[in-house]
Amino acid sequence: MNMKLVFSELEDKEKKLITEKFGKYQLVFLNEPLKQDNLDKYIDADILSIFVNSRIDRSIIERMPKLKMIATRSTGFDHIDIEACKEHGIVVSNVPRYGDHTIAEHAFALLLAIVKNLLLSVERVKKGIFSYKGLRGLELKGKTLGVIGTGNIGKNMIKIAKGFDMTVIAYDAYPDYEIANQLGYKYVSFEELLTNSDIISIHVPLLPSTRHMINKQNLHLLKKGVIIINTARGPIIETEALLLGLEKGIIGAAGLDVLEGEHDLVQVPELINHNFEKQINYKLLALNYMLIHHPRVIITPHNAFNTQEASERILFTTIENINSFLNGKPINRVV
Ligand code: NAI
Repeated sequence: MNMKLVFSELEDKEKKLITEKFGKYQLVFLNEPLKQDNLDKYIDADILSIFVNSRIDRSIIERMPKLKMIATRSTGFDHIDIEACKEHGIVVSNVPRYGDHTIAEHAFALLLAIVKNLLLSVERVKKGIFSYKGLRGLELKGKTLGVIGTGNIGKNMIKIAKGFDMTVIAYDAYPDYEIANQLGYKYVSFEELLTNSDIISIHVPLLPSTRHMINKQNLHLLKKGVIIINTARGPIIETEALLLGLEKGIIGAAGLDVLEGEHDLVQVPELINHNFEKQINYKLLALNYMLIHHPRVIITPHNAFNTQEASERILFTTIENINSFLNGKPINRVV
C-alpha cells in the first residue's frame, strides 16, 4: 500500500531530508498550517506531520478517515484533540526534550531584555540619541525567581538563574526534591510562589489543570511589580487578568513568547479582507492587541523553540518517530 505522508510548514532543506528518508511513500508538503479550509487536498493522508500552528481538532480528524498517525514537531500537543485521536485509534507522537536549554535561554533572554531595558535602549541609539536617561534597569542578583513547573525546561531555567545569584522557589504538581537539593531551590505552594516571587517564569504544559493558573481571582496575591515570563502556552495566563494586573501596577512587566488565542492573530490579514465567517474570539484578539502595544510588555512570536540546534533535533526525532511507527513500534507516544 502506498501511504500518503503530509508534512506542513517545512523549510526547503528539511523537505529535502524528508524526501531522502521517505521517498518511497507518496509525499505531500504544504507551506502553511493545516486547517479546515485547505484540508480537501489532504483528507486521504495516512500520516500527518505538523507544527503547533495546525489546530487538529475533532472536526479535522473526522474528515480524515485514513489517518493513522500524527507526528507533531513539538513538545506540547495541546493543538491536537487527543481524545478524538484516541477514539479513532490514531497514534500521536511528540518530540520531548528537544529544547530544554533552547526554551530556558529564550525565557531568560526575555527577562534580561526587560530588566535591562534592552529594546528601548537599542531603539534610542538607532535614533541617534546616545543617552541613558530614563533607562535605569534592575539587577537580578538576590531577586526571587518563582518557577512554575520544574520539568526539563524549568530545571534549566533554575540553573541559569542560579548563575545570576538569584534565589529560586518553585511549584510543581510532582516536586523533584533530589534535584531541588542539588540545585539549591525550594518547593513552595502555588499561593506562596505568587506572593513571594519578584519574577515568575512559567514552564508547565497546557492542561485543564493549568489553564488560567494566573487569573483575576488570584491576581491580588502577586507581589507588586512582579515580572511575568511565559514561554509555555498562552492560555496558562488569563489574558484579561494580565492586562488588569499591568493596569493596576500589580504586574510590573511581562515577557511573552506565547499568547492565548495566538492562532487568531495569524488570521488578521484575512480579517482585513472582511472574512467574518471564521470562528474567531474577537474579544481575545482585541485584548492581545492591547498587550502587543503595551509599553511594559515584550512579545516574541512563539519563537522560543527556534534555534539551529533545536530545529535539527526536532526533525531527526520526527523522522525516528515516523520510522518507528511504520515499523510497528511507535516511540514518543502521547496517545
Ligand atoms: P515537562 O513535562 O518536562 O515539565 C512540565 C512540568 O510541569 C512537570 O514537572 C510536571 O510535573 C509539571 N506540571 C504538570 N501539570 C502541572 C500542574 N497542574 N501544576 C503544577 N505542575 C504541573 O515539560 P517541558 O519539556 O519542561 O516543557 C514545558 C512546556 O513548555 C511544554 O508543555 C510546552 O507547552 C512548552 N514549550 C514551549 C515552547 C516554545 O517554543 N515556546 C517549546 C517547547 C515547549
